Amino acid sequence: MFSVDAPREIISQSEEAYVSAFRYTTTEVVKDEKNGFKVTPKSVDMTFKTDRIVPKTGVMLVGLGGNNGSTVYAGILANREKMSWHTKEGEQSANWFGSVTQASTVRLGTTPAGEEIFLPMKDMMPMVNPSELVVGGWDINSMNLGDAMARAGVLEYDLQRKLQPELEKIVPLPSIYYPDFIASNQEDRANHVIPGQIACWEHVEHIRNDIRQFKEKNGLEKVMILWTANTERFCEVTAGVHDSKSNLMQAIRDGHFEVSPSTVFAVASILEGCSYINGSPQNTIVPGVIELAREHGVFVGGDDFKSGQTKMKSVLVDFLVSAGLKPESIVSYNHLGNNDGKNLAEAKQFRSKEISKSNVVDDMINSNKILYPQGLEEKPDHCVVIKYVPYVGDSKRAMDEYTSSIFMGGKNTIAMHNTCEDSLLAAPIIVDLIILTELCERIWFKTKEMEEFGRMNPVLSVLSYLLKAPMVNKGAPVVNALFRQRAAIINLFRACRGLPLENDMYLEHKMDLATKRSVSPPSI
Ligand SMILES: NC(=O)c1ccc[n+]([C@@H]2O[C@H](COP(=O)([O-])OP(=O)(O)OC[C@H]3O[C@@H](n4cnc5c(N)ncnc54)[C@H](O)[C@@H]3O)[C@@H](O)[C@H]2O)c1
Repeated sequence: MFSVDAPREIISQSEEAYVSAFRYTTTEVVKDEKNGFKVTPKSVDMTFKTDRIVPKTGVMLVGLGGNNGSTVYAGILANREKMSWHTKEGEQSANWFGSVTQASTVRLGTTPAGEEIFLPMKDMMPMVNPSELVVGGWDINSMNLGDAMARAGVLEYDLQRKLQPELEKIVPLPSIYYPDFIASNQEDRANHVIPGQIACWEHVEHIRNDIRQFKEKNGLEKVMILWTANTERFCEVTAGVHDSKSNLMQAIRDGHFEVSPSTVFAVASILEGCSYINGSPQNTIVPGVIELAREHGVFVGGDDFKSGQTKMKSVLVDFLVSAGLKPESIVSYNHLGNNDGKNLAEAKQFRSKEISKSNVVDDMINSNKILYPQGLEEKPDHCVVIKYVPYVGDSKRAMDEYTSSIFMGGKNTIAMHNTCEDSLLAAPIIVDLIILTELCERIWFKTKEMEEFGRMNPVLSVLSYLLKAPMVNKGAPVVNALFRQRAAIINLFRACRGLPLENDMYLEHKMDLATKRSVSPPSI
């Protein structure tokens, strides 16, 4: 940890909270027919308050018995118990690799001697320790987590052997199953369901009661809910059904067939005061859900974990376009053999995934009118293929080909092969989503105009780094570029700790800022 040596007006620190003064500066651009653009620097003075006391937190996963669900549970337990196990390469011990909060570092600053100091991201702010998270949840399949972990085939056998006695005691809660929303090939898995195959208010109450009991039984101060169940088909969003909180709740009461299980979970969570995150691609978070979240002062976030291929894409296309190279075609081919792949083998569920994978380059294309004068109208050919190949199990293979126009009509082709180990990439992302959402619930801000501290808007776009198709608040631009998304997290933390934002200018090393001397211009 660290302390900040700055005047009390900038940062004050008590046992309970960090309170920081922050001037937020932006550049407002107005399009002007005659002169191009009119640009105005703007600023707003704000105060941030971060509650330092980290509550005892639990998470309930929808899809607890799946590959991700069982891997998250096992990973938390293995870290909590500091387990190690044998592999054919030797001894391996539990870690949090792949978690941006736990295993990445952040530049704090530079010593007077010019040494850069980096801190674990988790030490920037008071965060939940993931090893202390209490995990529970639901599944439409009754298998205990020990057997589910074996079915998933994600973890090394020796680790499974060590975890089995604890995991086999855990059986997910029964869940709601509306067969029309997930692939028909999942039907044989649905042996643990709450009666009723269409949305109804009893389902909302049932889930709310499960959340209350989980909280009470484990003595928790806070619970988050996260969907890591099968990808659903998109629901058809219609006025009068999904467009407002009252219409949505009435539609559930009326048993409307276009209200998905994931939306019913979102409504129940929000009514229990729990933030809700959607880790799959479907359009769970309809406008009525957002309105309800705003009213209840909780967050919603989504969609779809950004784990393998899309993460690479959101780096590579950003690099190409910002280097002045013009991607012309992006072809992404995947094959995988886990239950996610089986579910995605059906057309409607594949379509949900295709949509969430497709828009990831849009902001980068739109950013460069030299390469793309017509913007998205001439975006690169972008093709996404997903095939189910049972033999490869959870070891997803992603092959990508990026072809770009370069100098003088030349072509540059980059081909990539990525063996993902899907759930081992997704599990730490799930942990980060929970940790960041919980932290954001303890960050408050106030401007001069506001009488009281408030929270950020209900769609938690600061989670974008972790999500394939990030949701944002109405009217906000969507940013997919990975390092811009990461910078947004780090700069929020710096603002909360009374530190200047990262600007990478390093002027103190380029100029003699501490002396009156200046480098003279060359004499002729
Ligand atoms: N693993 C990754 O890298 C990754 C990345 C991005 C998104 N995702 C998404 O995460 C989700 C989970 O992936 P997975 O590999 O764990 O899949 P999985 O099929 O192994 O697990 C999903 C689980 O959800 C259960 N389920 C289905 N409907 C349910 C419902 N209504 N209520 C409760 N449980 C229900 C299933 O029985 C299953 O156990 C998928 O939608 C997938 O597309 C995964």
